[in-house]
Amino acid sequence: MNSVQLESEDGVPLAVALSERVHWVGALDPNLRTFDIILKTANGTSYNAYVIRGSEGVAVIDTVKEGFANDFFARLESVADYSEIKVIVLNHLEPDHTGALPELMKRAPQAQLFISQKAQSMLKGLLKQDELSYTPVVTGDKVSLGDRSLEFLHTPYLHWPDTQCTYAPEEAMLFSGDVFGCHFCDNRLYNDKVGDFRFSFEYYYAHIMRPFKEYVVRALELIEPLPLKLIAPTHGPILRDRPQHYIQRYRQLSSPALHNELKPNQKTLLIFYISSYGNTRRMAEAIYQGAMQIEDVRVSLYDLEGGEVAPFVDLIEEADGLVLGTPTINGDAVKPIWDLLSSLAVVNLKNKLGGVFGSYGWTGEGVRLVEDRLRGLKLRVPIQGLRVKLIPTEDEIHECKAFGLELAQELTGARESRVINFADL
Ligand code: FEO
Repeated sequence: MNSVQLESEDGVPLAVALSERVHWVGALDPNLRTFDIILKTANGTSYNAYVIRGSEGVAVIDTVKEGFANDFFARLESVADYSEIKVIVLNHLEPDHTGALPELMKRAPQAQLFISQKAQSMLKGLLKQDELSYTPVVTGDKVSLGDRSLEFLHTPYLHWPDTQCTYAPEEAMLFSGDVFGCHFCDNRLYNDKVGDFRFSFEYYYAHIMRPFKEYVVRALELIEPLPLKLIAPTHGPILRDRPQHYIQRYRQLSSPALHNELKPNQKTLLIFYISSYGNTRRMAEAIYQGAMQIEDVRVSLYDLEGGEVAPFVDLIEEADGLVLGTPTINGDAVKPIWDLLSSLAVVNLKNKLGGVFGSYGWTGEGVRLVEDRLRGLKLRVPIQGLRVKLIPTEDEIHECKAFGLELAQELTGARESRVINFADL
């Protein structure tokens, strides 16, 4: 029998025991099909919250989305009185985990709230109360419940600045917040009982955690040494079977996606273009030739019309520089360029080199608009974009080659700094 009893015979939600002292008091949302506007949820999601009982009090770890508060409170009441709650831990303040918090604070006013240092301003924004009592914690801080205790791990940006994990050493359980979670709703709850959720686990990582790979690696340094019987995330299956497997998978997913072919000190510059009459393509080819003059830069040229976006995103994630060529049509860059740019939200582009070029017929706004977008994505764009009216002349082709050379030199640090004339900007 695979099912887990989530309700009494007369339909009252019940807590589920993960151990003698730890219970799941979350809620299932099987009908959700889109989470946070961007994430697809083919069979819904769950909002997992937990209760741990010590000899000197009870702790509640996370709550649920507001509309699911009744399920949460019914499950909580099935294992604890509000007067017993000594501690409320919020691993992450996004509303899907804090929707029931204001009501919980009313019902258990004596409980002390534990949040990460970075969650303080968010808590104020969430509760809109002038006087708030809470304890900010960092890695290594602990709270005792008598014969059970909680230890906090600061794991920022997984996936918000405020995120932390909470470890219960006597239970060898990690309450991981969104980390190791996924949007997969299955009333069998445990990873060894639910349906095949591998796609959801990978999809969740790719969309939620991937932009913060370097922070994932730092968090894993804290998590990997922990003795663990179980990982209890805030979404999706509770990972009691081979919890280390999911930690290892995060380690793999946070490593470079492509095998390393680069020589020591070699930089990579990717040039993507799209062209309606061949003019932006001519510019791209000249920029490519110019950049190739620098030996330590591996330069690649791609026509966006001939490729799929997903593999390009993997390339861009690991490249040092990104150059985009777009015509201007109706005062804008063209859709394939915007499609590529919108797909880059899942990777970290901070401080990569950016550059833009393009041919235009009338006014040529596309290049400037894409430059702005690259800056918005936190690339540095130190060389002003190159625009050519219609067909590039021989002189303009030379200018394109010089542009490519300058971009490649910028990557190797060989570019001479220039005096900027603000009238040119
Ligand atoms: Fe599940 Fe980031 O909230």
